[in-house]
Amino acid sequence: MRLEGKVAVITGGASGIGQATVLKFVREGAKVVIADMNLAQAEEVVAQVDALGFEGSTTAVRTDVSVYADVEAAVARAVEVYGRLDVIFNNAGIAGGKPLLDHDPAVDYAPMIRVDQDGVYYGILAAGRQFRDQGTGGVIISTSSIYGEQAAELSFTYSAAKAAVISFTRSAAYELAEFGIRAVAITPGRVGTPIINQFSEDLKSTFASEQLRNKMTAPEEIANVVAFLASDESNVINGTVVHVDDGYSV
Ligand code: NAI
Repeated sequence: MRLEGKVAVITGGASGIGQATVLKFVREGAKVVIADMNLAQAEEVVAQVDALGFEGSTTAVRTDVSVYADVEAAVARAVEVYGRLDVIFNNAGIAGGKPLLDHDPAVDYAPMIRVDQDGVYYGILAAGRQFRDQGTGGVIISTSSIYGEQAAELSFTYSAAKAAVISFTRSAAYELAEFGIRAVAITPGRVGTPIINQFSEDLKSTFASEQLRNKMTAPEEIANVVAFLASDESNVINGTVVHVDDGYSV
């Protein structure tokens, strides 16, 4: 129960990595606000958690992370329902893209930046203010990607946003240490979640073959690392990137 007594907001908690992390966190003793655009699916995760015997451990809130007021409201909900906030997992994201020279800037740049980049900035800001006001410190974990550190096909905008997540993490750790706040970014490789469904079966097996175990990472494997990073056991990890890419980047 390494997260006993802790309260977390998990954005994008209705699916994939976020959903697996919600389940891991409650098993480790945390209370979780599931902040997701897809409220119906977030409510299904609450029902799933209840059915596992953790009734009352999760609350769903419709949140568009590209809107600051929504992210602030998710943080406020954690305080209202569970009395405090200890962890935010800025994980909501969208993927995909076109070749750069086919871009329509109105469609292929700003909309993705608003979710994958601005959404993380808003999470850091809203949670950081809450941690400071509580006077307790806290942990900010944000989902970048292997593409935040390298170029790839169809990823011009996505890579920019994911690189910003790493920069935000370093700067947040630097600026917020005085309040006892830690910040860490994770870089998943190829994880078997719905976000990958847009790609062909051929491409998916190529993805798997690029990882050292020759398979896609399970979302639960990422969740295990996030739980460790959220816990006091990882207090020495701050302002850095934890590569959770199954050896993709060796
Ligand atoms: P997913 O599609 O299963 O989950 C994403 C969740 O984010 C969904 O529940 C969706 O409703 C929510 N979401 C999307 N836009 C939102 C918004 N504006 N506001 C609030 N919620 C929103 O995908 P997955 O794989 O679990 O992705 C989670 C994170 O991991 C994303 O940031 C993604 O970029 C990142 N990632 C995923 C990898 C993979 O191979 N699956 C690899 C590297 C990074």
